[in-house]
Amino acid sequence: MELLVATTNLHKLEEIKNIALKWCKKDIVIKGISDGVDIEEGLDYKENAIKKASYYKKRAAFVCAEDSGIELFSLGGAPGPLSSRIGGDDISHKTQRELILYLLKGMKMELRYARYHAEVALLTEKEVRTFTGFWYGYIAKEERGEEGFGYDPIFIPENETKTVAELGNEYKILRSHRAMAFKKLFEYLETNY
Ligand code: IMP
Repeated sequence: MELLVATTNLHKLEEIKNIALKWCKKDIVIKGISDGVDIEEGLDYKENAIKKASYYKKRAAFVCAEDSGIELFSLGGAPGPLSSRIGGDDISHKTQRELILYLLKGMKMELRYARYHAEVALLTEKEVRTFTGFWYGYIAKEERGEEGFGYDPIFIPENETKTVAELGNEYKILRSHRAMAFKKLFEYLETNY
């Protein structure tokens, strides 16, 4: 089976391929697809994921797309689905991390509680279905580590002291929001197709 993953983010695609190697028992070939179009995103992860996948619907029998973000509980869940857009469209991930660190400046660890949230949409000839994954943790007080992307250098998973960027990609694909959502998708494909 071929599964088309609609994404412009090569880090995500690499992660999804590694997640499949770890979690998927079915023989699935994962291919990334992107026409380079910027599909406008709203405030609902599921809708955004479905919208991204729908754009490529006619290209394959199985198409999926993911929308994700980081949610800070002390900021009412912000930035959420706008995680890739905070600070403007052309801003670097580093500046976005600095913005988050600034917003939480001086806050104690318990007020830095946060989670990653991923929604994956699967489109087949028969149906549209979504799969959810969460990863809980805390925003660090400073950046640490080199691996991963986006907010990984400032996200410390629950029960850890290191950031995801320090813990590394092998650690991440076993536990992340994206890993949990895709694990559910792979299990669904295994039992239903
Ligand atoms: P989108 O799903 O492409 O709209 O972007 C999600 C944004 O959320 C990314 O650009 C990152 O800023 C953030 N994000 C989502 N998942 C991760 C992750 O696994 N690590 C770090 N940042 C993430």
